[in-house]
Amino acid sequence: MRVRIAPSDGLEAARVRVPGDKSIAHRWLILAATADGRSRLVEVPGSLDVRSTAACLGSVVPKGRAGLDLWSRNVAAAVESGGSTWNVGSSPAELEGPAPILEVEGDGRNGLVQAAQPLDCGNSGTSMRLLAGVLAAAPFRSVLIGDPSLSTRPMERVAEPLRALGAHVSTVDGHAPVTIDGARLRGVRYEVPVPSAQVKSAVLLAATAADGETTVVERVATRDHTERALGALGADLRVDGRSITVSAFQHQGFDGRVPGDPSSAAFLVAAAALTRSELTIADVGVNPTRIRYLDVMRRMGIEVEVRVERHEVGEPVGTLAVRATSTLAPVRVERDELPMVIDEVPVLAALAAHAGGPSWFVGAGELRVKESDRLAGLAEGLRALGHHAAVEGDDLVLGGSGIAGGRVASQGDHRIAMAFAVAGLAADRPVEIDGMEVEAVSFPGFSRTLRGLGADVEVVAP
Ligand code: S3P
Repeated sequence: MRVRIAPSDGLEAARVRVPGDKSIAHRWLILAATADGRSRLVEVPGSLDVRSTAACLGSVVPKGRAGLDLWSRNVAAAVESGGSTWNVGSSPAELEGPAPILEVEGDGRNGLVQAAQPLDCGNSGTSMRLLAGVLAAAPFRSVLIGDPSLSTRPMERVAEPLRALGAHVSTVDGHAPVTIDGARLRGVRYEVPVPSAQVKSAVLLAATAADGETTVVERVATRDHTERALGALGADLRVDGRSITVSAFQHQGFDGRVPGDPSSAAFLVAAAALTRSELTIADVGVNPTRIRYLDVMRRMGIEVEVRVERHEVGEPVGTLAVRATSTLAPVRVERDELPMVIDEVPVLAALAAHAGGPSWFVGAGELRVKESDRLAGLAEGLRALGHHAAVEGDDLVLGGSGIAGGRVASQGDHRIAMAFAVAGLAADRPVEIDGMEVEAVSFPGFSRTLRGLGADVEVVAP
């Protein structure tokens, strides 16, 4: 799908929602499928990545299969028909679309069975790494495969700690297919060498099936959804600074409403800022480990008020209220801060491109092993749109002189595609993006949402 975005003078001052949080949904789905008893989850997003996790779980959780399949069918239909998980409207009533409900019957971790086929994680690194953790203690062979992009991403980082716990795990030159022969696990102390919430979570999920205590130590704090969910479900989990200790634990079924994805919200915050508009994003996750990008945006001159309204399975949920932005300032994101905004670098780069001076993202090498090489992809794509962008070592440097416009490819990466779309809202001429359908990986209906907000967004080729 090729989409054309025209420069915009302003969006409608609206109240919107974004699809449910992908990171949280993967975790709650896994926890629901491995629970003892029935769980009922609402607003699980129909993003392709989450559907990959659901499909894999359906293959190893016989009792849960019917519920997972029913949800997958319903959510696919909802996304195709315009989506009930992303309603846009200025009145609160319009925010209340019925979302497909996921009811899943778990049989405990010991109820997992061997899949008849390799488990296909599609484009989703989170599916592959978290499922590896769960399957490490399941006493049979599992093979995890993925699409060409996922098959180039590093998997030894998760294989290595799972081996330390006692599982037999092999990769092919460090990549998928990942073959796991589950075993009886024993607790270890593991220091995560690369900041990665996926690796931390894989170890914690495996640890809930291990003999003895496991301690995971992070050098840099990363998103803590697994810790919060395990804690809310009653695990004996201790967090002491950057060290998390957990021991064997079987949880019961639970209910939860997945909060809106703050990483998806970031694109709408940026869209509002670049068009000097006000915007309210309701029912969004405001976990502090996920909204550090707002600190960066504040340094750029964007004012966003965060209101915490409730908690769901240990997660704070609330509202982001974006005030109209007058001017954008360039920004410097240092190496230590970068892991906390890793998924938002594309959208922050879209803002920085319009910031009127040079911006730096320091030590961003990890972006090379995301859904695409985001470091090269951002620089090349922004250059194709007439911006001065460069990669210097592991740093991304943007000139801040604005975007001329033109045609660019999504590079098969959802966040790159959405970043270019947002950048186009303040370009001199329209921006056309090839391969925009990839938005469905994390934000089904993103282009429609922008159009719903009054932006001139047109599908120019199917
Ligand atoms: C995620 C962790 C991050 C992030 C990814 C989702 C998660 O990856 O980039 O989009 O849900 O745990 P890493 O843990 O590899 O940094």
